[in-house]
Amino acid sequence: MLHDRPDIRYLFEPRSVAVIGASHNEDKIGYKILENIVSGGYEGRIIPVNPKGGEILGLPVSRTLEDAGGEIDLVVTSVPAKYAVDAVKGAADLGAKFNLVITSGFSEVGNIEEERELTRYSVERGMRIIGPNIFGMYSASSKLDANFGPGGICAGSVAIITQSGALGLAMIGKTAVENVGISAMVSVGNKADIEEADLLEYLMADELTRVVLMYIEGVGDGDRLVDVLEKATRRKPVVVIKSGRSKRGAVAAASHTGSLAGSDEVFDAIMRQCGVLRAESVQEAFNLCKFLSTTSMPAGENVVIVTNGGGIGVLATDACEKYDVTLYDDNETMKNIFDPVTPAFGSTKNPIDLTGGATSADFTGALDAALEHEEIDAVISLYCETAVFDADNLSTMIEETSVKYKAAGKPIVFSVFGGSTTEEAQAMLSRKRVPVFGDVYETVACLGGLYSHWRHATGEPAGIDEEEIDQTAIEEILAGAREDGRSFLLAHEGEEVLRAAGILMPETRIARSLDEAVAAGEEIGFPVVMKVVSRDILHKSDVGGVALDLENRDEVIDAYQAIMSNCRSRVPGARIDGIQVSEMAASGVELIVGARRDPAFGPTIMFGMGGIYVEVLKDVTFRAVPFSRSEAIEMMKEIRAYPLLLGVRGEERKDIESVLDTIIRLGTVIQRCDGISDIEVNPLRAYEQGLGAKAVDVRVLLSETSGGGTDA
Ligand code: COA
Repeated sequence: MLHDRPDIRYLFEPRSVAVIGASHNEDKIGYKILENIVSGGYEGRIIPVNPKGGEILGLPVSRTLEDAGGEIDLVVTSVPAKYAVDAVKGAADLGAKFNLVITSGFSEVGNIEEERELTRYSVERGMRIIGPNIFGMYSASSKLDANFGPGGICAGSVAIITQSGALGLAMIGKTAVENVGISAMVSVGNKADIEEADLLEYLMADELTRVVLMYIEGVGDGDRLVDVLEKATRRKPVVVIKSGRSKRGAVAAASHTGSLAGSDEVFDAIMRQCGVLRAESVQEAFNLCKFLSTTSMPAGENVVIVTNGGGIGVLATDACEKYDVTLYDDNETMKNIFDPVTPAFGSTKNPIDLTGGATSADFTGALDAALEHEEIDAVISLYCETAVFDADNLSTMIEETSVKYKAAGKPIVFSVFGGSTTEEAQAMLSRKRVPVFGDVYETVACLGGLYSHWRHATGEPAGIDEEEIDQTAIEEILAGAREDGRSFLLAHEGEEVLRAAGILMPETRIARSLDEAVAAGEEIGFPVVMKVVSRDILHKSDVGGVALDLENRDEVIDAYQAIMSNCRSRVPGARIDGIQVSEMAASGVELIVGARRDPAFGPTIMFGMGGIYVEVLKDVTFRAVPFSRSEAIEMMKEIRAYPLLLGVRGEERKDIESVLDTIIRLGTVIQRCDGISDIEVNPLRAYEQGLGAKAVDVRVLLSETSGGGTDA
């Protein structure tokens, strides 16, 4: 019988913790973990387990877990892999709820089966596995420090989930140096069972946690992660550092969509879609955590810069553009606010320049004026060390201002730049958990992160937009191809899929004879394009199977005969199902829309600049499906070529609605039709407003195939 999953609360707030492999030897990991649990002040029941029995750190040792008796919420397993399997299974048999498996030597060294079996056995008995191959965890809410790190973790409001053990352990030291308080820290290692999404479900509701920081190397159940992240980021900021910009996750080399969808690009775009703040470096992540865990939320987007240095003010202005921070620009109001507190030769325009003669009192005056004015929502305060500034008052000025702003619910971010006196003030403020940064870009990036989070958290939940598609017709086409033993659709089948999805295409007919080809050309209207239809000919142009720009019936007759003879002579025995006659699509802005099943995130959509240079330009972006129409608009705006759709150099605006419609329809297809792994429309030609967008070429690959090809 399968057991229910235990409440994740018992991982962070266990009433009892057993350490299997608690060692008598002070140098061993099993000893260190026990020592941290004891010295961290955990108040629940602690059970050291070691077959030798005796006493460790004043605690009686149980020879077996069974001997200990009672209910066990959390087990820490710290015995070598060859014993760990039985030890973990034994804990599951006894009804333990969670097991931190410290032991290395499982899937990370190729021992995949044993890890799977251990996990299956445990989960079936209602015990969840964290790891294996982890350093442990910390939870401020239960004062539990169950890891073999340096100990002495400072409690605070940043929760850390890390896939890297070494980096995680180093972070413990770094958080102490930078005085970042931790609310929880979990090492997830091989993620055999518990993943980030499980932990986020607790952390997003945890009152101690104000910011979540995650270090991710690979994503397991991406669908679920997206789902939980979307909820979590509405409640608190989530910062992610992800390593591995490799393209190994990209599959299906036959499809552009596959080769363009380097796993990192997909990850990046989907994290943005979920409202996650992605940090490039550990330092950037720490800065964001320090600021976001101490600041209040803004009420609006009017930001002013207050500075005593003109140059640094200009740098900050540039940084605001980069990090999407909106500078207030009502000069009249700013003159009223800042005239009384700015010297005549300073500036009351944004950035407010108090000039190099400013003292701490001048800063306080200007920052108070900004704080008290309801039009101003946030402030960037930039200080350059000068001889006239009363440096002794720098830290007091910043601390007092910080407290006032916090009480008033208005964000303020500080940058100080100068010599040793300035750095000492910065260090002193850091000890008091008042975040102060040096570099102007680092400073503005923090406010940018706050605004990015705030916009997402306060914006309307996006919802889902889907379009009506004829799914039954699509499934029939897929079944036909599978019966044929194909892992791809022929060109006309791909077009039928698009037709069933309601996507506009150039008009087309399949002709089975010369007469039908002529009739098709006349019905469609010249010029037309002709292509051979054959499952045995994948590269039609290479064998002379394509003819373009046919202006009249004679040209259609010549082309028909030429295509037939070329294909018969160059691919003898090829089964020719007919010749496709299509409207020659007028030129337009060439776009690409791809839909594919990402190995980690499931159904995804790619949109970008299309045509033959798509792989060189790589002007593409991604989203996890499903999404809303407004998200699709954001997606379109992300590509560099977006202005082409708005119309440049006197050109008309293109039919953006029709492009959006195609994106949503392809998203609906990949969402609903499991049998499709990739669809790529390239080019999708966008015409002027009212004239639509037409899918000129489409390739479709089927799911669960080994390799396969395209009908190119
Ligand atoms: N139940 C309880 N205790 C047991 C046991 C069992 N079934 N089997 C052995 N023990 C005891 C041992 O007697 C020993 O105690 P002692 O030192 O008092 O004699 C203790 O458990 C530890 O066993 P030992 O064989 O000495 O192992 P170890 O401490 O050298 O190594 C690990 C154990 C888990 C630390 C090691 O196998 C490992 O995986 N290290 C890497 C951990 C790591 O890096 N994780 C990832 C971090 S990011």
